[in-house]
Amino acid sequence: MQKIGIFYGSLTGNTELAAKQIQKEFGADVAKIFDVAKAKADDIEQFSNLIFASSTWDDGDMEEDFEDFLPEISSVNLKGKKVAIFGCGDQESYPDTFVDAIGKIYEAVKEKNCEIVGMVSTDGYEFEDSKAVVDGRFIGLPLDEENQSDLTDDRIKTWVNQLKKEFD
Ligand SMILES: Cc1cc2nc3c(=O)[nH]c(=O)nc-3n(C[C@H](O)[C@H](O)[C@H](O)COP(=O)(O)O)c2cc1C
Repeated sequence: MQKIGIFYGSLTGNTELAAKQIQKEFGADVAKIFDVAKAKADDIEQFSNLIFASSTWDDGDMEEDFEDFLPEISSVNLKGKKVAIFGCGDQESYPDTFVDAIGKIYEAVKEKNCEIVGMVSTDGYEFEDSKAVVDGRFIGLPLDEENQSDLTDDRIKTWVNQLKKEFD
């Protein structure tokens, strides 16, 4: 498998922690991790496998560092690259905008000729609406540390196993 670049935006540390767990599951020799507050387009370019991650804030917004990072992503030619997305949210307090940031990242990259991988069933989540749901499935992995933190480890392990098959 080609090396993987994990780029995360996290305000209170939940998505950061999950990104570190995901890195550990792949192995630190395979996956490199970047806080988007300090990353640049050059950092993205070197990887053919990418993971973008942002928590959701303020009724459906991306985490602000990730929002600021979007122009860097836009400046990179993603053609031929594989992209997976994850993010933390809270399905009980924000059931109408649950993990919307995952859907917004998808919107930002989907026209850039990359292949989106890592889709996940909505089974086991309870929410009303989410921009992360595309054709009945989550376009990336939602994690919910507020209400389902006991499921996070298994969700990460299952997702990483899926990505090991879907990435190049
Ligand atoms: C003011 C506020 C607004 C939030 N808005 C949303 C939201 O619209 N959708 C959602 O799924 N989660 C929302 N959340 C929950 C956060 O995404 C959640 O706490 C997440 O774990 C934070 O991850 P981070 O520490 O990586 O930033 C909100 C939390 C707060 C405190």
